[in-house]
Amino acid sequence: MTDADGRRDHDQAQRTGHADPARSFLFLLGSARADGNTEALAREAAAQLPSHTAQRWLRLSELPLPAFEDLRHTEGRTRTEPAGNERLLLDATLEATDLVVVSPLYWYSVSSGTKLYMDHWGAWLHLPEVRFKQRMRGKTLWAITTTSHDDSAPADPLVGMLRSSAEYLGMHWGGSLIGHGNRPGDVLRSDTAALADAKSLFG
Ligand SMILES: Cc1cc2nc3c(=O)[nH]c(=O)nc-3n(C[C@H](O)[C@H](O)[C@H](O)COP(=O)(O)O)c2cc1C
Repeated sequence: MTDADGRRDHDQAQRTGHADPARSFLFLLGSARADGNTEALAREAAAQLPSHTAQRWLRLSELPLPAFEDLRHTEGRTRTEPAGNERLLLDATLEATDLVVVSPLYWYSVSSGTKLYMDHWGAWLHLPEVRFKQRMRGKTLWAITTTSHDDSAPADPLVGMLRSSAEYLGMHWGGSLIGHGNRPGDVLRSDTAALADAKSLFG
């Protein structure tokens, strides 16, 4: 998609060193529906990864997390060891070198499932034995989203919040890929620019 000046309006990914076979990508699917536009775009991008690069796909709606409780300053209540889905997501997060947030644009931000997952980062930061901040440092964070607008600017808050979160944790920012569509299949059907960008997102 192009703007009035003919410039590509997609936020182009920065290139990083993808030849490293030790990399492993975790795709965190945040849509409230299966087989939506954002997942389809993510699968187009992932198809370009070398076959030796590990990929793991987790659908956040199938891994419900407990409501986030902010216990940071609560006397006498300590967080319990993460268990169940929380443990699975924590371990998957720590194991990956590259985290790809695959969330549709909901109210100019990530979906609630994605946000809840990220709020849990705030809890994991306060589990000393996990050493979350140290272990997140140096990983790469990517964003893939879909907006129903024709331009990409409405996705700026989503991209900004993920990019700032990456910075806060000392992570690299991989880049973002923004599709345009509303009904399932829209992006694959008609967003040729996003599909082209998907081919080069991961280098
Ligand atoms: C709760 C909700 C909020 C949404 N908010 C926005 C929005 O703020 N901006 C926008 O462009 N599209 C918005 N949309 C439209 C979706 O981004 C669009 O339908 C997208 O294609 C959905 O992605 P998916 O197919 O991967 O599920 C919203 C959709 C829902 C269900």
